[in-house]
Amino acid sequence: MTAAGTATTGDVRPGYVLWFTGFSGAGKSTVAGLVAARLRGLGAPLEVLDGDEVRTHLTKGLGFTKSDRDTNVLRIGWVAGLLSRHGVGVITAAISPYADIRAQVRAMTTNFTEIFVDAPLEECIRRDVKGLYARALADEIPHFTGVSDPYEPPAHPEIHLRTSSSTPEECAAEVLAYVRSKGWLAGADQTP
Ligand code: ADX
Repeated sequence: MTAAGTATTGDVRPGYVLWFTGFSGAGKSTVAGLVAARLRGLGAPLEVLDGDEVRTHLTKGLGFTKSDRDTNVLRIGWVAGLLSRHGVGVITAAISPYADIRAQVRAMTTNFTEIFVDAPLEECIRRDVKGLYARALADEIPHFTGVSDPYEPPAHPEIHLRTSSSTPEECAAEVLAYVRSKGWLAGADQTP
């Protein structure tokens, strides 16, 4: 801010939230990571709140009941709200399975962009990158999303990625094109 309280150019850039949602193993973190690398390369201010990482500090100790998931997602949303209000781009990647909680987060943040990372459950089970689906199907992990816990797909996501038929790079390019089309990279490199 200047002495007169006017925003400096650093405050002009709009904040936004790229909210990736989808099953474990659908590709949220992979696509989010590619988008983050690209945005950082453009010099755009950015923070990434990845579900797995957030659960090691901000939401440490929370489990996977509806109540704990809601707390987890709302805390991520709260931080995303603070950052996006101050011109920062925020990328989040949590399953965030409940539509009503995602709607609450939408209302708490600036330029909320819901990105449905859509992969058929059978495909996530087949990939089973972390080996958790096999354990969930053997009843060793309770409340496992898609197996013994619900996932409510977004009805009207701003972006719908199908990671079983598109590559992570193609998905990331789609997200970047959306961000550009909104003018959220004002001042950053605008080349395709
Ligand atoms: S959320 O529902 O609260 O948004 P979050 O994205 O933070 O979930 O955490 C999901 C990750 O935790 C999964 O990718 C998986 O690695 C791990 N996990 C452990 N237990 C479960 C479970 N019961 N359901 C889903 N994911 C689980």
